[in-house]
Amino acid sequence: MKHNMRIAIYPGSFDPVTLGHLDIIKRASAVFDKLIVAVMHNQNKVPMFDTEERMELLRRTINNLPNVEITSFGGLLADYARQQDACAIIKGLRAVSDFEYEFQMALANRKLNPELDTVFLMTSAEYMYLSSSVVKDIAVHGGNIAGFVPAEILDDIMLRTRKDG
Ligand code: COA
Repeated sequence: MKHNMRIAIYPGSFDPVTLGHLDIIKRASAVFDKLIVAVMHNQNKVPMFDTEERMELLRRTINNLPNVEITSFGGLLADYARQQDACAIIKGLRAVSDFEYEFQMALANRKLNPELDTVFLMTSAEYMYLSSSVVKDIAVHGGNIAGFVPAEILDDIMLRTRKDG
């Protein structure tokens, strides 16, 4: 580490950011000196919002957190962590079902970058069932997503799902 700052990366698709993500962002930013929220590519997903849009939605959501930076990266997370001098990856764990997949990714990332640890934060109970897909599904079918996503981005999601639907 070239400096004394403890930098962590919170990676994800964030398509779109939800209150569950925001909960993790707030808590992780209180533990680390700097939190880099990285919009990344998940090869198993076709996003609804492009990278720039997802970054913009995130930016609007976190505007009062001074040590949080919104970025994007198209390559390997382990490489990006090295490039950013990060010591940790942050992941939110929701249910037991997340565990095996997250364990596999954490081991792979550590193998690719031995200086990198994955830190798991337990999702707050009210967001245990939440995912970006659940939000999109509710919105597409005309349901109320106000309790699931930050108020600042509610209209963007409703507009997009109506246009696509
Ligand atoms: N609250 C609400 N929802 C949450 C959540 C929380 N606290 N934590 C996770 N979720 C949701 C996500 O929104 C996502 O929902 P979706 O499947 O409907 O899109 C789902 O849970 C799964 O989250 P996650 O496992 O973090 O997947 P992701 O697609 O958001 O992120 C990457 C995966 C981008 C981090 C991963 O693919 C990656 O690292 N890619 C870069 C390439 C790379 O390095 N690959 C090798 C990895 S070993």
